[in-house]
Amino acid sequence: MPSYFVEGGHRLSGKVAIGGSKNASLAVLSAAMVLDGPCIVDNLPQISDLETLLEIFQEIGATVERLGPGRVRLDARTISTHEALSENIRQLRGSYYLMGALLSRFNKVALRMPGGCDFGSRPIDLHLKGFQTLGARTDIRHGIVFIEADELTGGGIFLDTVSVGATVNIMLAAVKAKGKTVIDNAAREPHIVDVANFLNAMGADIRGAGTDVIRINGRPYLPGDREYSVIPDQIEAGTYMLLAPLTGGDIEVTGVIPKHMEPLTAKLEEMGVVVEEGDEHIRVYMPEGGRLSATSFRTMPYPGFPTDLQPQTTVVLCMAEGTGRMIENVWENRFQYIDSLRMMGANIIMSGRLAVVQGGAPLTGSHVDARDLRAGAALVMAGLAASGITEVYNVDRIERGYEFFIDKLKRLGARIQRSPAL
Ligand code: UD1
Repeated sequence: MPSYFVEGGHRLSGKVAIGGSKNASLAVLSAAMVLDGPCIVDNLPQISDLETLLEIFQEIGATVERLGPGRVRLDARTISTHEALSENIRQLRGSYYLMGALLSRFNKVALRMPGGCDFGSRPIDLHLKGFQTLGARTDIRHGIVFIEADELTGGGIFLDTVSVGATVNIMLAAVKAKGKTVIDNAAREPHIVDVANFLNAMGADIRGAGTDVIRINGRPYLPGDREYSVIPDQIEAGTYMLLAPLTGGDIEVTGVIPKHMEPLTAKLEEMGVVVEEGDEHIRVYMPEGGRLSATSFRTMPYPGFPTDLQPQTTVVLCMAEGTGRMIENVWENRFQYIDSLRMMGANIIMSGRLAVVQGGAPLTGSHVDARDLRAGAALVMAGLAASGITEVYNVDRIERGYEFFIDKLKRLGARIQRSPAL
């Protein structure tokens, strides 16, 4: 059970290079499993979730060649089975993309139910509804999802809840289906656009990604044989941006797409933080003599405020002047870290999906559990702002999604150690 030991009270400053997007990579790599030829994917983050996904690909027979850090060559033509049942599937939510990918490849799939972060019920009904519209039969038995079609044919699907995973999965299943598929009320996250761009570069015909209507003209053969670089991780970038007001520091995130950061940028400015945008970087700092003021947040699908930045932002509200509000609209149970913050001295009142944060209560070091990826990062942030030492344990959950986390923090001036060392 690895831990981080964090010494708080140090101002963080400097530049930090942002890696490739975790969620885009999981989707793009899975999309590569649909292709009829090889491809090269670049700018992948070096995180354990991707390692696990690549292991799963190898378990089902795909050819995975590591060409260098963050760069792989994939060939799905060697996949020998439509069954993905290993224990690895349960380690990450992103393995659910194998439903769409293997269904597209074999017209059938048997997948162990995926796991991932626990923040309440994580249904897949919309994914299944999408597959059914394309002509598949679906069944869940003994923790395994079975999906099978005689032939996949295009259709019209309205998603009654905006779902990233269902949007991607339906795209994967539809990309080689016969005829045209229209996804209405589709998710608009940057990684949806990234998967569509990837598949189009490999020979697909997908239009409208990034809007709420995506149109897919099925193409029977996707040659691949191209190289693709995934987008930067907006959640990693957002986490480092939030560290500047949290520690009274001055941080520049580099290698980012500033447009993707707008939901956060707008709110930071509202709190009195200076955010300067370049073409591919963003600098964040507090103005001379400025004060961090509290505000209200409401998580929403993109372009709303991302739920994956909710815990990290709540920690910043703890340091702001006044009463801040955080409403979690996406997940039913994503406030499990609040008790840990309270243990560190935070003044937070909960009411269902609303957290009311009375800013300014001094945080003090404590022993806290990284119960999930983003909540874990948030507790490290709380440790950086607290007096004394904080031990965050179960940090392998953080390392699922943040590459070189403590190295990057150290370069910004953080005092943090891992035990056992990596
Ligand atoms: C993805 C991200 C996750 C992020 C989430 C929301 C990955 C691997 N994970 O998760 O980090 O927090 O988007 O931005 O990319 N829902 C249903 N039925 C379904 C599917 C979803 O009701 O079949 C509901 C969920 O309960 C949730 C909402 O839709 O309330 C959004 O979920 P969704 O966008 O699907 O999240 P994931 O794709 O699982």
